[in-house]
Amino acid sequence: MQLPTQTFTTHRLVTLPSKDELCKAFVGQPLSSLRSPAAIIDRSIFKANCQAMAKKVKDNGLRFRAHVKTHKTVEGIALQVEAGGKVDKAVVCSTMTECWQIAESRLVKEGLVNDILYGMPIALDKLEDAKSLANYLRPHNAQFRLMVDSVTQIQALEQYAQKSSQPVGQTPWSVMIKLDGGYHRAGLTVNSDELKQAIRLCLDSPYVELFGFYAHFGHSYNARSEDDAHTYLQGEVEAINGAAKMALEMDSRSSGPDDPYVLSFGATPTAHVSNTLVKDKMYGELELLPPTDRYFRLPRHAGNYCCLDLQQVATNLTSIENVAVSVQSRVISAYPHRNEALCDAGGIAMSKDTGPYPGFGKIVSPKEMSEWELGRVSQEHGILVQKQGAAKIALPEPGQIIRICGQHACMILSNHPWYYIVEDGGDKVVDVWVPWKGW
Ligand SMILES: Cc1ncc(COP(=O)(O)O)c(C=O)c1O
Repeated sequence: MQLPTQTFTTHRLVTLPSKDELCKAFVGQPLSSLRSPAAIIDRSIFKANCQAMAKKVKDNGLRFRAHVKTHKTVEGIALQVEAGGKVDKAVVCSTMTECWQIAESRLVKEGLVNDILYGMPIALDKLEDAKSLANYLRPHNAQFRLMVDSVTQIQALEQYAQKSSQPVGQTPWSVMIKLDGGYHRAGLTVNSDELKQAIRLCLDSPYVELFGFYAHFGHSYNARSEDDAHTYLQGEVEAINGAAKMALEMDSRSSGPDDPYVLSFGATPTAHVSNTLVKDKMYGELELLPPTDRYFRLPRHAGNYCCLDLQQVATNLTSIENVAVSVQSRVISAYPHRNEALCDAGGIAMSKDTGPYPGFGKIVSPKEMSEWELGRVSQEHGILVQKQGAAKIALPEPGQIIRICGQHACMILSNHPWYYIVEDGGDKVVDVWVPWKGW
């Protein structure tokens, strides 16, 4: 196979804003002094969400891998890992920039993170980059793992390893096979011939080691109740269960795999109901065989849970009080003839993601404006409209400061250069987090 020209992560060429300078400028300042639109994270809520998830994971006797894509910051990851008592130091990333930034941050140096999974199926132009990162992490006793969802990727990894001096013979690529359980975004279909072929290639290869399987039911965002979420969770568990059985049947080693297969499953809606679908059900009803830690380890993975947003509130598995992220905006103009107002939180600040809740955001402060919502957005313009069916009330005054809870925290935060951190619903900045940018 002709491998494409290799490309490299550009994180070392990107100068991020200085946290020190930002803290000097903003810590201790009231939110009313900030230029809007401004992304705000309530650290107390963020922490409480992390602790609630860690408790569910522990109560279920499971392990955890935190997804970092929602906030992309050192501070956020530290809170995610610390909430679980630093038992689980594994993360999953959505970009190679996130992987590299974590690798070069204090998180790895201080041993808070020792296992990084790049959660996108590996693209063939990133093999050299992936090798460099695996090599970079090794002296820090940290592992880099790749996701695969095609036979071609596994063959490319093999071919690349055969031709290069490392990691051949020393440490093979550690891969998780991504499963498609119905989301139809990425992954191999359970029980498909291609999955069988992929497992076979990994089992036979000296260059590729099968770390485990990964099921992520993104369509669980359609859940509207605990029962719905259970159904999706059951689907995730069935997917990893099916793939694990297939791998065990194909594994000719009489003693089973050298290390237990890691069967990772989750998404924030399914992770919210884990308390009620306990290990019994996974091992019993779904017949995950054999039911022993000798063969399997069961980490959950989730990312959005620490921040939350309107889409998550719409699942009815959490409530708006648990949402840690909001955007502060200002009213700019009022238009009495159409009973609408203009604010400075447009499509860039709020994203254009939608959800069951109408529009692009709910006004969470001030309370008197709870009858308004962010009805339309273009790049920098946000149009405030009255909720359908609400009694007509006075238009907001230009200059009015508002806080908006948006539809999708991951998409919102990724558009802001830094986040202002508050605590316990306070109105003073206590910290500033600078997220990583780029791919
Ligand atoms: C591959 C993968 N794993 C895990 C997650 C985490 O899902 P959630 O943010 O719903 O917890 C995502 C989110 O998109 C994902 O893409």
